[in-house]
Amino acid sequence: MTRLWEQERRLQRQERLATVGQLAAGMAHDFNNILAVITLYSQMLLANPDAPKREQYLASIYTQSEYAARLIAQILDFSRRAVIERTHFDLVHLAAETVELLQRTLPENIMLILETQLREVHVHADRGRIQQAMMNLVVNARDEMPEGGRIWIRLDALEVEEGAPLPRKAGRANLSPGKWARLRVEDTGPGIPPEHLSQIFNPFFTTKPPGQGTGLGLAQVYGIVKQHGGDVQVDSPPGRGAIFTLYLPVTETVPET
Ligand SMILES: Nc1ncnc2c1ncn2[C@@H]1O[C@H](COP(=O)(O)OP(=O)(O)OP(=O)(O)O)[C@@H](O)[C@H]1O
Ligand SMILES: [Mg+2]
Repeated sequence: MTRLWEQERRLQRQERLATVGQLAAGMAHDFNNILAVITLYSQMLLANPDAPKREQYLASIYTQSEYAARLIAQILDFSRRAVIERTHFDLVHLAAETVELLQRTLPENIMLILETQLREVHVHADRGRIQQAMMNLVVNARDEMPEGGRIWIRLDALEVEEGAPLPRKAGRANLSPGKWARLRVEDTGPGIPPEHLSQIFNPFFTTKPPGQGTGLGLAQVYGIVKQHGGDVQVDSPPGRGAIFTLYLPVTETVPET
């Protein structure tokens, strides 16, 4: 029992280190690009302080510095929140609350719909981080639908039984025996090209122009779900939008506090 637990911990540590390594590599790459622009334009200005394009150079230096500052803020946020604080709560309730919150900030041409047959499903998790994960997914969907569209958050549960074949709902996720909550975020956007599917959770993978996306949103979602002992899956069936599926372990009973 202890051995298993230790193994699990070691594995989690390795995963975290792998993510940190990817983060560091992506970070170095981004900062190099930023520094290249700043170095080039400041050299040009030093060589020719009265260059006709002086203001343009300065503006570029300024935006790149701002971008770098924003990157650092995001990275700090990313590492600071690596520790999770678990409580027992109802995921249906959190999803409903999050939908309400998001509905107020989404543009009018985007419809956000919560779909569930469950009355409640309890998890032992970090409320704030799970909410963050939902928000990142919904914001991504919004970004892909500037002309408007629909976003569904679907919530249901499944049970994986020892020795029995995995239920269909488990998809390609790696789930151990027990009860799981399944949270899906699906949109009517353009979907994700097949060649991007394997990179999408990598820190700093983004298709957005510089300054508009850092590529940390899905890396964060991945980190959050993994820290909770869950799994995450992305699908993009042809002719449909993107579907992100999160699996989180369900707690049988809710202890009284
Ligand atoms: N719902 C979606 N539909 C289509 N593509 C998506 C969707 N969600 C994510 N993507 C793709 O995955 C990329 C990575 O998403 P991620 O949230 O990690 O970063 P980002 O949104 O680009 O930047 P950030 O979240 O840091 O502001 C996006 O740039 C986009 O190409
Ligand atoms: Mg994002």
